[in-house]
Amino acid sequence: MLKTHDAGVLNRQNVGQKVTLCGWVNTRRDHGGIIFIDLRDRSGIMQVVFDPEYDLETHKIAESLRSEFVIKVEGEIRMRPEEMFNKNIPTGEIEMIVSNIEIFNKSKTPPFEIDNPHKEVREDIRLEYRYLDLRRERMKKNIQLRHNVTKMVRDFFDEKGFWEVETPIMVKGTPEGSREYLVPSRLHHGKFYVLPQSPQQLKQLLMVGGVEKYFQIARCFRDEDQRGDRQPEFTQFEIEMSFVEEQDIQDLFSELILKIVKKLNPHKKLVLGDNVPKITYKEAMDKYGSDKPDLRFGMEFEDLTEWASGVEFTVFNSVAKNGGIVRAIKAEGGATLTRKEIDDFTRIAQDNGAKGLAYILWREGEEPSSPILKFFSDEEKKELFEMMNFKQGDALFFGAGDYMTVSESLGAVRNALGDHFGLRKNDEIALLWVVDFPMFEQNSDGHIGAVHHPFTRPRKEDEAKLEKNPLNCCAIAYDMVMNGVELGGGSLRNHERDLQAKIFEILKITPEDAEERFGHMLKAFEYGAPPHGGIAFGLDRVVMLLADEPNIREVIAFPKNQNAQDLMLHSPSVMPDEQLDELGISIKEEE
Ligand code: AMO
Ligand code: AMP
Repeated sequence: MLKTHDAGVLNRQNVGQKVTLCGWVNTRRDHGGIIFIDLRDRSGIMQVVFDPEYDLETHKIAESLRSEFVIKVEGEIRMRPEEMFNKNIPTGEIEMIVSNIEIFNKSKTPPFEIDNPHKEVREDIRLEYRYLDLRRERMKKNIQLRHNVTKMVRDFFDEKGFWEVETPIMVKGTPEGSREYLVPSRLHHGKFYVLPQSPQQLKQLLMVGGVEKYFQIARCFRDEDQRGDRQPEFTQFEIEMSFVEEQDIQDLFSELILKIVKKLNPHKKLVLGDNVPKITYKEAMDKYGSDKPDLRFGMEFEDLTEWASGVEFTVFNSVAKNGGIVRAIKAEGGATLTRKEIDDFTRIAQDNGAKGLAYILWREGEEPSSPILKFFSDEEKKELFEMMNFKQGDALFFGAGDYMTVSESLGAVRNALGDHFGLRKNDEIALLWVVDFPMFEQNSDGHIGAVHHPFTRPRKEDEAKLEKNPLNCCAIAYDMVMNGVELGGGSLRNHERDLQAKIFEILKITPEDAEERFGHMLKAFEYGAPPHGGIAFGLDRVVMLLADEPNIREVIAFPKNQNAQDLMLHSPSVMPDEQLDELGISIKEEE
């Protein structure tokens, strides 16, 4: 090694020792002849001193040092004068007096300050110069945290008897509901490999292969619209088990996630207690309007459909009489909201499909006020206020319409109110399981799609309903949710050929198509497939939450931006014609 010690871990005990350190010039100060450098390596910072009276030669070289030069320094560790102690860093009581220096490399002035954690830097610049961004404290911490999580996951599954098995990256389609990335084949013109959206089919085939307990920290690829918690390539830690029941899988991941949270976020409060409660999908939608509710706060929906069917206000009663629902939430202290703030919440409701967001404010010392109150009799108002436990200082918000629209729009308003009133606290964690998802959903184009994926198993009691009433079938599928983010999801699978074939049929995949796309699965199920199930967690999302970061790009060393581009590598990029020719590919001119 070129160095004898890491800079950031030295302390009083090293006083008097001769050491050699390597790293970057974090800052340089010239104090009337004496030059102070904060030397930075991965472990931290060490103050190194160049004194012309101690060593004229090294001091001369030090005069040329600038930020981010890479250097090696040799010297002795000594105490700082007491008035120079820096309580903010672990090495703050000591310094190194330098007797020898070597400059490994100079640096241009970086496009942003490396050592200033408070200065906001534009993300596109950070991503273009990611190798500089990684030197900053924020990224360093996140990358280390990610390593710690990965290590805990590996150790945990190893201890539980799981085998880590790698599955191929060039596969055939693995439908999980997103568009796939394709890899053209040179040897087979016109044919393509597909990058896996997850190892779903392969891990099931490992179960047929008798592996029984599989895990992997697996890269997945999905060509979908980017959001803060989505990347085109991301990492899952995921398992598959044979002879397992859903409770086993949930217990296993409750144990793992609690362990990770307690170890890596010890200062945070688990607001739902020390185990992970379960609610059904239906309950989650009914009460919170989301299949990933943030339970750090309450603000549950109240169902007002029956009451609404009797009132004069046509928006409410026509909905209530025509099979829709009317629901409301109460924001305690919400009467202080301004007109503009209410308009903002209304826009959120509308962005989520609602026609409007009726509201009532009850300002301190005033009567309740609202554009819709005039439509209600005194008796109706009294009933409403009682049902909602409406008090001075509060605000009510209403959604009227079909079940999904009201649920989702009020759910979005609930989250926004939670943000506005500071109820989504950073130092709190609410972990829960959402279970009993439906098997299928009707897409906007009328087609039936799988809610989880087509390999998910229906509840035993619903198998008979599959053909006649698929939308009413419940799946043995479960998600873990933390603070309003879906951390992971999984299911028990169909291990019987006929059941799997029937589900393809419901999904309107013809037997020929099923054979062409999933023939390998159906075939494997003919050779003694064990009952099995599994789950996958988004590693990036878990680390994002543990790190209190607003998006997963902050916890990925080299992420893509919101347009799925890598600004450092400049990918995707144009390929030379020869390479395309070899693949038998020609590019259509854009129209
Ligand atoms: P699912 O599609 O629910 O299940 O994905 C599991 C978890 O992966 C994470 N995730 C993502 N993270 C970042 N960027 C993305 N684009 C992205 N998409 C998903 C989420 C999610 O909860 N094969 C099944 C699992 C199984 O049934 O065992 C699957 O992939 O945290
Ligand atoms: P209107 O009578 O259309 O002006 O609506 C009166 C109030 O009801 C306004 O505050 C609207 O935002 C609200 N509103 C309209 N449609 C709905 C709906 N479907 N759900 C909830 N509020 C609504």
